[in-house]
Amino acid sequence: MCGIIGYVGKKPSSEVLLEGLKRLEYRGYDSAGICVDSPEGFKIIKSTGKLKNLLAIVPPRPFGHNGIGHTRWATHGGVTESNAHPHTDCSGKIAIVHNGIIENYEKLRELLKDKGHSLKSDTDTEVIAHLIEQCYKGDLTKAVLETVSLLKGTYGLVVMHQDHPDMMVGARNGSPLIMGVGDGEMFLASDASAIISYTKQVIYLQDGEIVTVTPESFQTMDLDENIINKDIDIIEWQAESFEKAGYDHYMLKEIYEQSESIVRGMKGRLDRTHATGHLGGLNMTTEELLKVERVVIIAAGTSYHAGLVAAYLLESMAGIPAHAEIASELRYRNPIIEKNTLYFAISQSGETMDTLYAMRELQRKGARVLGICNVVGSTIARESDGGVYIHSGPEIAVASTKAFTSQMTAMYIFTLIMARLRNMSFEDGLEFIDEMEAVPEKLKTIFKSAPKIEAIAKKYCHTESFLFLGRGINYPVAMEGALKLKEISYIHAEGFSAAEIKHGPIALINEKTPSLFLVTDDRLHDKIISNMKEVKSRGGKIIAVAAEGDKDVYGIADDVIEVPKTVEYIYPFLMSIPLQLLAYYSALELGRDVDQPKNLAKSVTVE
Ligand code: F6R
Repeated sequence: MCGIIGYVGKKPSSEVLLEGLKRLEYRGYDSAGICVDSPEGFKIIKSTGKLKNLLAIVPPRPFGHNGIGHTRWATHGGVTESNAHPHTDCSGKIAIVHNGIIENYEKLRELLKDKGHSLKSDTDTEVIAHLIEQCYKGDLTKAVLETVSLLKGTYGLVVMHQDHPDMMVGARNGSPLIMGVGDGEMFLASDASAIISYTKQVIYLQDGEIVTVTPESFQTMDLDENIINKDIDIIEWQAESFEKAGYDHYMLKEIYEQSESIVRGMKGRLDRTHATGHLGGLNMTTEELLKVERVVIIAAGTSYHAGLVAAYLLESMAGIPAHAEIASELRYRNPIIEKNTLYFAISQSGETMDTLYAMRELQRKGARVLGICNVVGSTIARESDGGVYIHSGPEIAVASTKAFTSQMTAMYIFTLIMARLRNMSFEDGLEFIDEMEAVPEKLKTIFKSAPKIEAIAKKYCHTESFLFLGRGINYPVAMEGALKLKEISYIHAEGFSAAEIKHGPIALINEKTPSLFLVTDDRLHDKIISNMKEVKSRGGKIIAVAAEGDKDVYGIADDVIEVPKTVEYIYPFLMSIPLQLLAYYSALELGRDVDQPKNLAKSVTVE
C-alpha cells in the first residue's frame, strides 16, 4: 500500500526522499511524488508508474533540506499525475502526503468548494490540505489538530508549510507512522525500511497522536493537546537485510533464506531439558495455558494458510479444538466469544487492516488475542495481549514466503508447549524438537532441486489454469501453493483437498490443466495415489511433490519433485518450498514483475 517518507535536516532532502521511496517500493504502488523546499518555494515532482519515471524527471543535482515523498496505491481516483501525492492547498504553501482513507471526504469536498477552495484531484487526500489551509492561523500544529478532528476514516499524515521551514507535522489514526530520530535530522515514515539506512532510533506513533518535528526536536501530543512522552526504540534489523544480496529478486532471496529464518525463529525457544518450548511473549502462566479449551486463529492470505496448518497441528498433537478463520469474515459475523478460548492474530506486517480490526473486535468483546508478527512495533504486535515475533527478518517481496514458514515455526512451538502440558510424553516432545531442528538442513536439500523445478515451471507455465491438491495438514499448503502461483504469475490456480475434487473440480481436468499433488508417505499416501489416478484417467497432467523414494508416484505423475522424508506434521515446511520456487520460476518465465506483482500491495492497510 502507499508509502510515506518525510525529512528535515541538513542532507539534501531530494536524495533522502528518493532513497526512502526506493525502499518503500516493495509495498506496492502505481504513482509516486516528492515535495522539496527551495528558496523559490515548494518543488513538487510527481509521476505515474514506477519510480524510475519519477527519477527521470527529478533534477540530477540533489536539493532542499526539508521534504515529503509518497508512493501511492490508488484507492480514490485513478492512476494519474494529479492524483499522485503530495497534494497542496490553494495557496500552494501547504503540502501533504497521506496513507489511509477519508470516509467523509465527499462531504468535506463540497464544504470546501462552498468556501471557495479549488480542488485539483479526485482524491480524498486533497481535502486534508485544504482543510489545513482553512484552519491555519499561523500555528501549523494547531491547524493539523483542528483538521484531523474533522476527518472520519484512517490516516497516516505528514504536513509541511512554506512559512515553517525545517518543520513537519505528522498525525496517525489507523495507518502506521513512525518517527526516525537522527543526529540533527528527523524522519517520518510509514515503515522502518524507508529510514533504516539513516537511523535505527525510532518512535512508534499511536492512533490519535500527532507529532511536530524539527531537525533537533520533536513533540508528541494527543488530540487534546496533552504532551505525551515517548520512548525511543531501536530497530534490530540490519540495513543490509533490505538488499537483494546478489539475488535477482527479493523473492528468491527470501525463499533461500528460510533455512536461516526458521533457525532464528526457534533460537532460545526449544528446551531439551523439559522437552518443551518457551515463548516468553505469550504473557500467560501455565495455569492460564492449561485453562485454554479452544484456539481460534485469525489472519489473511498466506498468514491464514499458516493458521490453517497450525490449527490442524494443535488439534492433532495437543488435542485442543482449533480452527483458523479469515479475519475479514470473522469481524463482520458477530463472533461469539467463548470463555477459555484463546485467539491468535497472525500477520507478517502486523498492519493488515482486516486482521487488526478483527482483533480489536475480539478484544472489545473481552477475548485475549495473541499476535504472531514479523514487524517489530507494528500495530498488531503492540495492541495484542501478548505474542511472538517470528524473526524472519524483513520480507520485501510482495509474495510472502519466509514469513509463512516462520509463522508456522512459532505456532509449532506453541503447539509443543500446549501438547507437553497435556498429553505429549517427554520422548515425543524430544522427537518433536529433533524433527523441527532437522528442517533447515532438509530445506537445503530441496534447494538443490531448483534447476529441476525451473524446468518444470517452464514446461507448464503457459497453461491457463493450475490445480494444487493436498490432504490433511498439507491441504492448506496446496492452497498456499495456488495463491503463490496466481499472485505472481497471474495464472489462475486453485488449491483443493485432493479428496474433494471428485465433488466438482474434477470437471476442470483436461490435458491442458495440470494438477500438482502433494504426496506424503504417511497414512494418507494411498488415498492421495488414488486421487492422482482419478486425475490421470481423465487425461490430466500431473506434477507430484513427493517424499524421496516414493516409487508409486513415478508410474502416474508426469513430473516428480522429491523432498526428504520426514514425519507427517513436518511436511508442510518441506512441501511449501517447491511450490514457492515453482511460482517464482513460472513468473520469471512469463516476464512478470516478480517482487511487485500488479495490483498487489505488501501491507494491506485498507479494508
Ligand atoms: C501473499 C501475501 C498476502 C498476505 C496477506 C496478509 O503472498 O503476502 O496474502 O499474506 O495480505 O498479510 P499479513 O501477513 O501482513 O497480515
